[in-house]
Amino acid sequence: MKTKGASRTVFRCQNCGDAQPKWLGQCPSCNQWNTLVEEKEAPPDRPARRLTEFSSAVTKLSDVTVEKAQRKVTGLGEFDRILGGGVWPGSMVLLGGAPGIGKSTLMMQVAGRLASRDYPVLYVSGEESLGQVKGRATRLNIVNDAVLLLSETNLENILEVVRQNQPKALVLDSIQTVYKSDLAGAPGSVGQVRECAAELLHLAKGIGITVFVLGHVTKEGDLAGPRVLEHIVDTVLYFEAERQQVHRILRAFKNRFGPTNEIGVFEMTGGGLAEVSNPSELFLGEHEAGVPAGTAVIAAMEGTRPLLVEVQSLVSRTLFGMPRRQVAGVDYNRAALLIAVLDKRCGLNLESQDVYVNVTGGLQVREPSADLGIAVAIASACLEKPAPPKTVWLGEVGLGGELRAVPQLGDRLQEAAKLGFTRAVVPRAALKGVRPPSGLELSPVVTLTEALEFVSRR
Ligand code: TYD
Ligand code: MG
Repeated sequence: MKTKGASRTVFRCQNCGDAQPKWLGQCPSCNQWNTLVEEKEAPPDRPARRLTEFSSAVTKLSDVTVEKAQRKVTGLGEFDRILGGGVWPGSMVLLGGAPGIGKSTLMMQVAGRLASRDYPVLYVSGEESLGQVKGRATRLNIVNDAVLLLSETNLENILEVVRQNQPKALVLDSIQTVYKSDLAGAPGSVGQVRECAAELLHLAKGIGITVFVLGHVTKEGDLAGPRVLEHIVDTVLYFEAERQQVHRILRAFKNRFGPTNEIGVFEMTGGGLAEVSNPSELFLGEHEAGVPAGTAVIAAMEGTRPLLVEVQSLVSRTLFGMPRRQVAGVDYNRAALLIAVLDKRCGLNLESQDVYVNVTGGLQVREPSADLGIAVAIASACLEKPAPPKTVWLGEVGLGGELRAVPQLGDRLQEAAKLGFTRAVVPRAALKGVRPPSGLELSPVVTLTEALEFVSRR
């Protein structure tokens, strides 16, 4: 039944944006608890609008001409690489991350770089006063007349300033603070966030400027609010800290103009974010006096970049009851499978042992090609014998204990050679057509048992 005139309220899920006529404890569409918030429904005379409206006539694929838009390189190498080689005019980028991670710092640095390369930027802050923004810029050594600052939260006013000043890029810090005055709902509510983003998308596509939108992620790791934007923006970047909190990892989660799964590594310094151009060094432990038992180095791919990572394991006798398996940075089920293979196929007695596995540097390794390194770390810990030094382990382990080929072996070997590794233990099946880089000796093996001989021999 519809009541005429009186404005109705709906209960909108702040996680997925779905509306319900009455309050419920659990959202029926995304199953999240306690996410429904009462909002005024949009006035009925305002036509419901789809989030992305692009309409064109039917055109043959061969007749479509691509505009000759050029990527703009910012000169901040890690940032450019994540975006696929630079910033696209007419695109919209969402940068998400926990409060205090360094989103504003990164964007101010990007703004400074773009501005000094003939790409004027309007930096709009809804969170900080002009003085605070200027304070950060000074700290970052950014003095540039081509960076315009604005402290504003009303979207209509922001769009007006864009029209007047015609920058080539707009930074909006953050999407949770802006609002459209004709909409019900407080800034940061799903309705506001979605409508404001749709408006900004039209701006980006309409006048061909690059729009960067910053968004806070909640402690639980979900982008409350901004998560509903993931499908309308062109690129989604997430900024995370690794465990020691000094380094920051920028990830491309979605990218219409370039690769995903890329990571860029930065270090937070007194003068802003500095690029870490050789992150492998970061994820490798330092061992002055040889490699301790229970460690093995693998070469994992993060996007197109190989990263050398150390896997550590500790094996100790189970005191009572069930043996524990505790892992960090690797998949639990994968580790359990490798423990079973080591037990059944390689004759290691792990049935009554607690096994711990950890990847240094807080990285998550989800590739099967890390299997061999994980298995070797566990075996080395169990046998209390160190693996040979300067050795990298690559290969997927099958249930029969056989080793399988890994993709992009050449790139991984290159990275290992670059960091001074002298031996790579690899599946024989992977060797076809691979030429080892100079200084790196390849040791082809067929089974896990064969690979473990390098450990037990010592
Ligand atoms: P900020 O960019 O404000 O985070 P966000 O926008 O994601 O909330 O950065 C916050 C932290 O970065 C803050 O705790 C101080 C630190 N920082 C530095 O260590 N060095 C610097 O040069 C700057 C500008 C910030
Ligand atoms: Mg900020």
